[in-house]
Amino acid sequence: MLQPEQSVKSRDWRFVLIAVIAGLGGLLFGYGTGVVAGVLLFLAHDFQLNGSMQGLFVAVALAGAALGAAISGLLADRWGRRRVLLATAALFVFGSLLAALANSVALLFLGRAFLGLAIGIASTVTPLYLAEITTPERRGAIVTINQLYISIGIFISYGVDLLFSDLGSGWRWMLGLGALPALILFVGMWILPESPRWLIRQGLINRAKSALQYLRSTALVAEELESLQQGNANTEPMALRSLFNNWKLRRLMVIAVGLAIFQQITGINIVLYYAPKILQETGLSSPFMAILATGGIGLVNVLATIISMRFLDSLGRRKLLLWGLWGMLISLLALSLEFLTNLQGALGAALIVVTSAVFVAFFAMSLGPIFWLLISEIFPLAIRGRAMSLATVINWLSNMLVAGVFLDLVGAIGRGATFLIYALMTFLAILFTLKLVPETKGLSLEEIERQFISIP
Ligand code: BGC
Repeated sequence: MLQPEQSVKSRDWRFVLIAVIAGLGGLLFGYGTGVVAGVLLFLAHDFQLNGSMQGLFVAVALAGAALGAAISGLLADRWGRRRVLLATAALFVFGSLLAALANSVALLFLGRAFLGLAIGIASTVTPLYLAEITTPERRGAIVTINQLYISIGIFISYGVDLLFSDLGSGWRWMLGLGALPALILFVGMWILPESPRWLIRQGLINRAKSALQYLRSTALVAEELESLQQGNANTEPMALRSLFNNWKLRRLMVIAVGLAIFQQITGINIVLYYAPKILQETGLSSPFMAILATGGIGLVNVLATIISMRFLDSLGRRKLLLWGLWGMLISLLALSLEFLTNLQGALGAALIVVTSAVFVAFFAMSLGPIFWLLISEIFPLAIRGRAMSLATVINWLSNMLVAGVFLDLVGAIGRGATFLIYALMTFLAILFTLKLVPETKGLSLEEIERQFISIP
């Protein structure tokens, strides 16, 4: 028979497993966005897509993601986090298969739009669900499973792109393979419980209790249930407009939206996705070497996220964010200098690869995970889903904007100056963090709510 302590341990493992299944939404996000680069190379040939149609193909998914993020909060607040994740996984499978089997441009774009929609919903609801099922002491690490999966998804997509790049109709595989993790998420979410916090908000106390029993060791359930109920008892229902009318909520919204914008306009996706092109032009002339270097940067992204998981709950969000932002600033200044001095040849390329990797590492330890973490923590339960949704829409729109203007910007002012702009934005992010970003380490979501909202 299991001793009580062993039983707590085994439940603990079960909890981590649950988080690992639920976090798969992040994999859909990372893989779904990462795989496009490889797919595009084929589409130009197989469907005779010209440059602007290719741009549209990328934009369709990003716009779909913005739309998905926009509706996700409303759906998650109304129908529950679990049901929405289930539907999202199904939508992702459907979109992947539709795009992979498409025999016309219209079907291809439609499949990609569905995929985008699913990515947008997953990007909001995955961290939301993870934050709500976990305990305060390790919420940083557990919610960051989402970011870890995003980085793994991007890394795998590089590998898949490489693997299928020489295969006739390889793009069908690239798109179709995305259905696999979505299928696992779908099956997993059947077994996982609904967020106990959401259940309490609906007045479904018995179901909340069973969910907690499933997630925790029995001894602690009664206490936790009571504190969650108390937390909920003090909250009034909130309309969306209170995010703008109520000054305390407005301040939280400014923090969330600010971080959403800074996460994108400091250039992460430029470094991750334009890297092979930049490297090829600098001196790594073989496409294989360029892709290999990009893979290395992708791997650094994964490893640095693991480091952040180790420190988020001990050092705290604010400190890690500030250190990471300073690191990003210095590496962006270095990159800008490298471009301004027009470094060429193998040595120049190597220097650019290393500096890019350092930049990505600092992002993955700070602004990457901490944006998703903080937006899942700072809002009151009554409006959490919808508020996160809004911040996530802004994140996707900023993503679209940065990708959309990058090439024109480089054309107009050059690469060095473009990266100098990203550095300047990072400096503003530091000032913003110093002035506004709160520490949430170790506090329960209910304590955060009391501190930020309830006290006059
Ligand atoms: C960002 C994505 C980015 C990814 C890189 C995420 O936190 O939202 O835009 O591609 O990190 O790992």
